[in-house]
Amino acid sequence: MAKKTVADIDVKGKKVLMRCDFNVPLDDNCNITSDNRIVKALPTIKAVLDGGGALILMSHLGRPKGQRNEKFSLAPVAKRLGELLDKEVVFADDCIGEDVAAKAEALQDGDVMLLENLRFHKEETIKDKAAKEDTQLREAKDRFAQQLADLADVYVDDAFGTTHRDNASMYTVPSLMEGKDRVIGFLIEKELKFLGETVSDPEKPFVAILGGAKVSDKLGVIENLIEKVDMILIGGAMAFTFFKAQGIKIGQSLCEDDFLDKAASLIDEAKERGCEIVLPIDSIVTQKLEENAENKVQAADIEDGYKGVDIGPATAKLFESKLDGAKTIVWNGPMGIFEMPPFDEGTKAVARAVAAATDNGARSVVGGGDSASALAKLGLAEKISHISTGGGASLEFLEGKKFPCIEMLDEK
Ligand code: 3PG
Repeated sequence: MAKKTVADIDVKGKKVLMRCDFNVPLDDNCNITSDNRIVKALPTIKAVLDGGGALILMSHLGRPKGQRNEKFSLAPVAKRLGELLDKEVVFADDCIGEDVAAKAEALQDGDVMLLENLRFHKEETIKDKAAKEDTQLREAKDRFAQQLADLADVYVDDAFGTTHRDNASMYTVPSLMEGKDRVIGFLIEKELKFLGETVSDPEKPFVAILGGAKVSDKLGVIENLIEKVDMILIGGAMAFTFFKAQGIKIGQSLCEDDFLDKAASLIDEAKERGCEIVLPIDSIVTQKLEENAENKVQAADIEDGYKGVDIGPATAKLFESKLDGAKTIVWNGPMGIFEMPPFDEGTKAVARAVAAATDNGARSVVGGGDSASALAKLGLAEKISHISTGGGASLEFLEGKKFPCIEMLDEK
């Protein structure tokens, strides 16, 4: 059943507590390097403000491990949001406490306030499993969440990027607000629609492209997609675990030895189900892991002393040809060490191929920071049908997992 959104409720004269994912990338001087997640939250923010609600925004940023740390302050986000909205954004320098409660109380309809990083308090990230087993932890998490819940009359969840987490603000806060409106925002609505339609009713051929360092991170998604897609193109360091499982030499490339058997059985399982797993046919290898390090193209076995750091040019061409004619594409994860040029070339080649296939009529859904930033760097982001704001969250969605923090919110 569809979830209620902010469009289904009346927020006039109400205090609205909205969970966003403002976990934006920052440079060494705490400047925001991509405001995409803030921009994507604007439609819901504007709907609440235009509807006459007073808005209290909350988010995490990074992993400050329960400690106050100015490097992870949300102050730059408050500033950027103010610029985007062209209005004052009150910034509270904590997310709970008397001062925050007073500031929330003083908000007038149409005002907006952003609370400081939720993860400056360790209670935000206490796992529900741990809280269930330990009364003290549960009480601490509940006390923290209750202070947030007490700030408002309405709860809105628009933090798609965090929906796979059981953080207090995502799950405990709305569970303590039973009886009040608890709805999703337009960003979550859009993400669920795109990802849901893509997986449940894909036009064929359906091709998945998976990259990144670890097979273990992608096991669930591979297992789930094998049943749905015609082909899985595998790049990134995770390909080396598949190579080693087949007896191919990988030199000093990254490999998860504990998953060799699993990698081998996934290839067999895919064959049985008529899903083609396509591995790289060449790699870029280097002896030194640094920007612009000397490197060469290696077609088969990688010799000792060398490390695979990107897919090679023949693989890029092969992947491009496999995407030609695809009608549905999902892509998650880089093909090489994207942050270390020139080992970003494979990821960029795939970005170009996905954009070209979309131009030719494919529906494309991309998740994960590196894939999205390859598209942005090439100026191709606009060509993609949907770029998810959730890396881990979109992956878990593609694994077929349910998000309890959304399930508990109000049905239409
Ligand atoms: C993300 O960027 O994937 C989300 O903001 C979640 O962050 P986390 O992995 O630190 O929980």
